[in-house]
Amino acid sequence: MALSIGLFYASTTGNTEQVADQIAAMLPDRIHLHDIAVEGVVAMAEYPCLILGIPTWDFGELQEDWDEHWDALSALDLSGKRVALFGLGDQLGYGEWFLDAMGALCQQVQSCGAQVVVNWPVSGYQFEASKALTEDGQSFVGLALDEDGQHGETEARLQGWLPQVIAAFDA
Ligand SMILES: Cc1cc2nc3c(=O)[nH]c(=O)nc-3n(C[C@H](O)[C@H](O)[C@H](O)COP(=O)(O)O)c2cc1C
Repeated sequence: MALSIGLFYASTTGNTEQVADQIAAMLPDRIHLHDIAVEGVVAMAEYPCLILGIPTWDFGELQEDWDEHWDALSALDLSGKRVALFGLGDQLGYGEWFLDAMGALCQQVQSCGAQVVVNWPVSGYQFEASKALTEDGQSFVGLALDEDGQHGETEARLQGWLPQVIAAFDA
């Protein structure tokens, strides 16, 4: 039987929420949505596989609801879980801090014991710096989305990314 997937996100102006809804609609029987602003993070413990969505705000900072629940997150034991990340940012407006919060989230869940799966190539993006890059600088640690400047790319990016995530979860 396919393992169930918890998709946890938070969103200040609705962009991450909209993408979370899109992802859930692609696999409605398997993905269960949780808005961290309403439910917090504790239910992450119930799932073997997690998708986490985070926008970056205020020059490289965590979105406010993620920030509020950060200590609770750091106290979770996520060992044995597979986690895929998606981040939202604005590469033109905030290119020195593009998707930084996704990088912070990657480090946090790894220190909670999770295995982060599915990197995403940097080609097709233009930015000065990002804390969400892999060590070699060739990839992001999760799916990179920019609803401010590249909204038209999002659907195709999701279609390319989600099957890779499912394959990594089911491996
Ligand atoms: C005041 C402000 C600060 C922002 N800071 C960053 C940033 O540092 N890095 C980044 O990549 N995007 C930044 N963004 C862009 C947001 O991450 C982007 O608009 C995102 O889609 C918002 O997602 P949400 O609607 O789910 O909150 C910023 C946007 C605003 C309005």
